[in-house]
Amino acid sequence: MTEKTASEKLEEEEIVIEVDEPEPTIEDLPGVGPATAEKLREAGFEVLLAIAAMSPPELSEQAELGEAVSAKIIAGAKKLANIGGFVSGKALLDRRERVQKLTSGTSSLDELLGGGFETQAIVEVYGEFGSGKTQVGHQLAVNTILTENQGGLNGEVFYIDTEDTFRPERIAQMAESVGLDPQAVLDRIHVARAYNSAHQILLVDEIKKMSKNLDVKLIIVDSLTSHFRAEYIGRGMLATRQQKLNRHMKELKQLADIQNAIVLVTNQVQSKPDAMWGDPTRAVGGHIVGHASTFRLYLRKSKGGRRIARLVDSPNLPEGEAVFTVTSEGLQD
Ligand code: GTP
Ligand code: MG
Repeated sequence: MTEKTASEKLEEEEIVIEVDEPEPTIEDLPGVGPATAEKLREAGFEVLLAIAAMSPPELSEQAELGEAVSAKIIAGAKKLANIGGFVSGKALLDRRERVQKLTSGTSSLDELLGGGFETQAIVEVYGEFGSGKTQVGHQLAVNTILTENQGGLNGEVFYIDTEDTFRPERIAQMAESVGLDPQAVLDRIHVARAYNSAHQILLVDEIKKMSKNLDVKLIIVDSLTSHFRAEYIGRGMLATRQQKLNRHMKELKQLADIQNAIVLVTNQVQSKPDAMWGDPTRAVGGHIVGHASTFRLYLRKSKGGRRIARLVDSPNLPEGEAVFTVTSEGLQD
């Protein structure tokens, strides 16, 4: 049988068009002079597609521009931006092939995650106080500095600390136990304390700017939800809170994709005493945070200082559990 199937024939006929023209920039938009361009950049709008996807009131608020001007800019961006939308399965496969995996330092957790924490993904680690979320963050920060042969990503780490629980001495301790120079490790972990949710959101823009000169491979937000939870109280504020959280997570996901990096967010659980079955605790942020995360790990304490991690949501891995411990050296089997 040498007869070709219809799809094979189609494949051979596929024509690849390569475009070599320079990409349009925000300066090419109607009504954008240097001052407006500056405002757009400051608000984090470098990419035309990001502008095209805005509504006039949103852009007006975020970039501090008039609504009429915003509408004109958005209309221009829609024309100029390569909205594309559909890509071939092959292109997606190529992107997937760039995915790297970061070791947790324990074989049980790595196995649960199909070989480690994946880049181009948001991982939500949620659990009660003291369940080990911050410890996981510290360990991944250190391991990111390892070379790829050692299970690391040989890149820079950005740590957004909302609860003032980042401890450089803990990093130093963990660095030593994986054979790295603590000073060199601390040099590559960039930490910012976020004072409120607005500040937390702005810090992501800051990472975006810094990622032009640095090879960002891990971004940690510890905790993702504490400020939002404290600031937006009651039913009336819920919608606004969820909207802000949603946008925040989208920006984080964009960074993960562009940088081929991991985003790790931690989240507390809230008591749900009325739950009739299952675990009477739920992650804060509800559907929004859950949906925006690629992987969700639920941590809980067990006997003898052990920790149990449960993989709750994953696009291509079975649910399951891993057991590990937190010791002075860090995470261990
Ligand atoms: P919240 O932020 O309060 O929600 O908790 P968390 O989930 O971030 O907990 P965290 O990661 O801070 O875990 C704290 C626990 O880790 C402690 O109770 C200890 O059991 C363990 N731990 C932290 N540092 C060390 C250490 O140096 N040695 C040992 N053996 N255990 C440690
Ligand atoms: Mg913590």
